[in-house]
Amino acid sequence: MSAAGGDAAGRDAGARLEGRLIGLGVTGSIAAYKAVELLRLLRAEGADVVAMLTPSATRFVGPLSFAALSRHAVETDVLSLLPDGRIGHIVVADSVDAIVVAPATAHWMAAMAGGLAGDTVTATVLASAAPVVVAPAMDGDMWSHPATQANVARLRDDFGYHLVEPEAGPLASGQSGIGRLAELEAIVDTVVAAVAGRPIRTADAAARPPHTAPVREPDLDGRHLVVTAGGTREAIDPVRYIGNRSTGRMGVAIAEAALDRGARVTLVAAAIEVAPPAGAAVVRIESTAELQAALDDLLAAADGPARVDALVMAAAVADFRPTTRADRKLERGAGLRLDLEPTPDVLAAIASNVHRRAAGSAGGRGDRPVLVGFAAETGSLDRAADKLRRKGVDLLVANDVAEAGSGFGTDTNRVSILAADGTRDDLPLQSKRDVGDAILDRVAALLRARRS
Ligand code: CTP
Repeated sequence: MSAAGGDAAGRDAGARLEGRLIGLGVTGSIAAYKAVELLRLLRAEGADVVAMLTPSATRFVGPLSFAALSRHAVETDVLSLLPDGRIGHIVVADSVDAIVVAPATAHWMAAMAGGLAGDTVTATVLASAAPVVVAPAMDGDMWSHPATQANVARLRDDFGYHLVEPEAGPLASGQSGIGRLAELEAIVDTVVAAVAGRPIRTADAAARPPHTAPVREPDLDGRHLVVTAGGTREAIDPVRYIGNRSTGRMGVAIAEAALDRGARVTLVAAAIEVAPPAGAAVVRIESTAELQAALDDLLAAADGPARVDALVMAAAVADFRPTTRADRKLERGAGLRLDLEPTPDVLAAIASNVHRRAAGSAGGRGDRPVLVGFAAETGSLDRAADKLRRKGVDLLVANDVAEAGSGFGTDTNRVSILAADGTRDDLPLQSKRDVGDAILDRVAALLRARRS
């Protein structure tokens, strides 16, 4: 059981690393891409994470993903200084509650066993008194080699590091053997166990490595935001569905940003590939009809304690659904021709209800949720202004999902924000978190204008 009362499966509500600063060392293995998700899981447990990449790790995975998700500059150079002149790896070494090196290569473990501080990860670990968790990943023969095993024994037995042993399975070489990076959940659990019972080492933010984004004013304090995320799925039969490529990253980033600005957040999650932020109330839905029902429920209570101040509709809603759903699994031999019908436009329907109710209410036009829609386009954004009017929203966030670094499955996005007053802001390519904050800047301004 975790300190927060969750268990290994209950990560949605996990906060087992609340207030902790965790150093994440990434070394040059094909498994380096998994460290991005590890960072996200550590953040979902409430940790502040600062990432360090060896030069070879940067050839497998770009520092921008780690920087965007951690909101810290990524340490890649052992000789680099922080913007304020402090020595980066020493600040990290002195302030972290634990360092987790995942994936750890055979080469990195050999350097560490020998105390060779040639890269930022070894240098930080060498300089730190914090507990160290090491999760190796490599080819099976490299793992079983006596040199590697001797280095592992030295790290574990002489240095007291927590080893999360690699697992058996298919390896990058195409062979099978022991060498796959352990399950990320097991690595997180080991970090949690390594810090358990220890006081937070450095609570003072000024003594920690600085955040890249300024800490926001709690300008959404007391507000309730409903954010939809992920792709809806329309069942064909009990096994198959029509879905889309949405991962939920954009919606989850907005939810995280809103929580950091003091809002109460309800995340209505369709199919998402990332963990919802700790602190959000999560309503799980699958189909467009369920999305509509969930939002109707939330908005029906709008005058009660669940009053909704803004709805941000980042979900990628299926545009078509089968006219009928088979109760039993369809057989392949019979072939298949699907009859599809358009789904109802959830956002347009909600907007029209919200406007009607607001017109009839004593508060008049001001007393209604701010409505934010998204428009996923391919090619030009010419249709966006028309979509804003058609949907009846206050803001429309349009992006070209065909552009590199933008749209589905990336940690970055380039968007234009159109407003009902006819203005349009074309924002640069930036992290989804920063896009989220840019959207919330405008939502907060609209809410402020209504109050005054
Ligand atoms: N949306 C919705 N219900 C639908 C389709 C979309 O509520 N059935 C919402 C999305 O969540 C998004 C916005 O409407 O916030 C725009 O989605 P998009 O797919 O770009 O627009 P469509 O209405 O599907 O228009 P088109 O197919 O012409 O692009």
